[in-house]
Amino acid sequence: MAIDEFPNLMDAHVQQQPYEVYRELRNRCPVYEMPASGFHIVVSDQHAREVLRQPDRFLSGVSPMALADGGSVDQDIIDIYQNEGWLPLSSCSTTDLPRHRKVRGFLETLFTAKRVRHATPMIDQVATELFDSFDTRTDIAFIHEFAHPFPMVVIANLLGVPATDIAQFKVWSDAIVEPFSMMASRERRIECARLVVEMQHYFAEMIAERRKHPRDDFISEALAYRDTSGESFDMQELMTLITIDLLASGNETTTAAIGSGIKLLLEDPAAMEALAQNPALVPVAIEEMLRLESPVQGMFRECAHAANIGEVGFAKGDLLNIRFGSANRDEARYDHAERFDFQRKKPGSHLAFGIGRHVCVGAALARQEMISAFSQLFGRYQSFALTADTPLPTYQPSFFGRNLDELYVTLTARQ
Ligand code: HEM
Repeated sequence: MAIDEFPNLMDAHVQQQPYEVYRELRNRCPVYEMPASGFHIVVSDQHAREVLRQPDRFLSGVSPMALADGGSVDQDIIDIYQNEGWLPLSSCSTTDLPRHRKVRGFLETLFTAKRVRHATPMIDQVATELFDSFDTRTDIAFIHEFAHPFPMVVIANLLGVPATDIAQFKVWSDAIVEPFSMMASRERRIECARLVVEMQHYFAEMIAERRKHPRDDFISEALAYRDTSGESFDMQELMTLITIDLLASGNETTTAAIGSGIKLLLEDPAAMEALAQNPALVPVAIEEMLRLESPVQGMFRECAHAANIGEVGFAKGDLLNIRFGSANRDEARYDHAERFDFQRKKPGSHLAFGIGRHVCVGAALARQEMISAFSQLFGRYQSFALTADTPLPTYQPSFFGRNLDELYVTLTARQ
């Protein structure tokens, strides 16, 4: 296959199963200019780490939404936010110093190991209630009934959102994430902006209430936070923090990780059997799930100066997309990279959460959610299979993430 004949990763069909394309690229062209995209993709583990470890040379301030719009966000979308709500700032992951320090400084306080340990009984309880809701039913739409609500209810509890409002969250949460996929139409992006504004007004009311009556929740903590120079967050910053950094960054990714984990086990009966026999393997299993089906397939970086990666030279302003999904299957780093391996040394050293300055701030929470979900699943059920006569699972079109549309499973209870 000539280099210019590689299937395009912006093609929704290729996105269903990108791993063969990644492998070919790693072997033949590890820093590859995507046709008609204006950027290169970086697919090897070594090059990905090289870029991620130099955050001042390879900046994060790139907006996928602006790229999808041809360089800058559509004016109609900006107008909707400016006239009816709050124009979102860049997310923590797409912000550079000095703003990054302020936002990350706050977010880090929320997800320390100690705080995640403290939240674990609540996380377990949310998982228990969702599994209990299956009652005696064994045919389950797993994404809709578990993988989606689970992280959403957890983060909503941490934020202090009333349980009765959670049903509305899926619609809003999708509206935040979809424009980042770079696959949504202009009409859909406009619709999403309106939905996000609706969500902003919902949170504006909660913020006003918490200013008067602070509680033990993330919103009250965000209001009380002062950075090292004593600065608090203004409304625009609060909206971005709550809707993008806390809700959007954490929900879809964790949903994706749980859904793909189930799918991987369906494809690997030996791994499923091993977990059913020995649920103590769950913490290793979730790392292999994250490595093999990385929920964030790629993130952008912009060259701050002229730079070389491998044999390719870049000028200031050139764009790179680091493919975590490919680096995590790089044979140069992982033996039998395509296989689930419970014996893998340092199983958590993959790139699914990134590394360096922008490493996922919610990783400890996400890991605990996955451990709670799979431990309870194997505590209750011996095995599961794809439900007969249901559609095969497919991934939603996205250049960024890897979320299953739905996954219909039939669960077999433990005797
Ligand atoms: C399995 C679930 C998750 C995965 C795979 C994941 C993946 C990632 C990755 C790859 C990055 C680094 C981006 C980069 O280097 O450009 C990141 C950053 C981030 N994640 Fe996660 N994430 C997950 C869950 C969460 C959760 C639960 C939260 C919060 C509730 C969260 C909040 C963030 C934030 C705020 C950043 C930006 C950090 C920074 O730029 O300093 N993530 N995540």
